[in-house]
Amino acid sequence: MILVIVGSKGMLGSMLGSVFAEYKPLLLDRDEIDITNSDSVRAVLRAANATHVINAAAYTNVDDAETHKEDAFLVNEMGVKNLSEVAKELSATLIHFSTDYVFPGTSVDGYSETDSPGPAVNEYGNSKLAGERALKESGCNFYLVRTAWLYGPNGKNFVDTMLQLAQTKKNLSVVEDQVGSPTFTKDVATYIKTLIIEQYPFGIYHAVNSGKASWFEFAQKIFEYMQNMPVIVKPVSSAEFPRIAKRPAFSILQNTKGPQVRVWQEALREYLTLFAR
Ligand SMILES: NC(=O)c1ccc[n+]([C@@H]2O[C@H](COP(=O)([O-])OP(=O)(O)OC[C@H]3O[C@@H](n4cnc5c(N)ncnc54)[C@H](OP(=O)(O)O)[C@@H]3O)[C@@H](O)[C@H]2O)c1
Repeated sequence: MILVIVGSKGMLGSMLGSVFAEYKPLLLDRDEIDITNSDSVRAVLRAANATHVINAAAYTNVDDAETHKEDAFLVNEMGVKNLSEVAKELSATLIHFSTDYVFPGTSVDGYSETDSPGPAVNEYGNSKLAGERALKESGCNFYLVRTAWLYGPNGKNFVDTMLQLAQTKKNLSVVEDQVGSPTFTKDVATYIKTLIIEQYPFGIYHAVNSGKASWFEFAQKIFEYMQNMPVIVKPVSSAEFPRIAKRPAFSILQNTKGPQVRVWQEALREYLTLFAR
């Protein structure tokens, strides 16, 4: 396997680099490749003679995407089109990530891999949905892996934000009417490794930690595990915490066909032990 990881400095990309280290992947980020430029993508992937490309590069600023729609689509749609076309030319397998935001977020039970996505909940979701379509239309061999509520080292995430806020505040208000599956990047990277090594069939997969929680319950669990932080977490509604981009009420992704993933509480405990103490 000649593996290329694109977006290797991001939160998920950096974890993929660690989990796949034994395969000596070629690690690429903005300085080495611009996925919005087809010439750049073709030159780099051809020179590497890639057999597997993992795309962890994306425009991920959900609120900015509302006002920078073209930028979001350039990376999340055109970037995926470029990568998937070159993957097809090379007969390489493309592993690409998408999000629960491609769904409307109104289903209490969440969404399975066979549910049709759309309408997306916001512009970031629209751009990721356009990327999913570009991938499917390319005809390359792909794993389209949707994930959600990610946290891990090397990225802005909810766990680190809570821990930082707790340095200066004793009371934190956290939204209780949005539910999802908090997911550790390590578990997504391990999931991808299993898909590739065990040669799961190509197609759509949902990679999230098992179980569900509201942001409020997630925050409560963080401070339950961080016993030395005497923080009081108060539940609030989304209406009391306005954001630029709309967020879904239900972010749950059902994993009905991929490798099983441990419960989110267990993953969170490991993350806090490894990275927060
Ligand atoms: N984070 C979540 O909660 C979450 C939830 C669901 C799905 N996802 C999906 O999971 C994947 C990984 O997300 P993440 O949070 O790990 O992302 P991230 O931390 O924002 O990392 C993305 C990386 O891609 C790079 N990049 C952006 N545009 C590029 C371009 N044109 N060419 C090359 N590299 C470029 C970024 O560089 P710069 O930093 O310089 O821009 C960054 O290093 C994405 O597909 C995302 O949509 C994430």
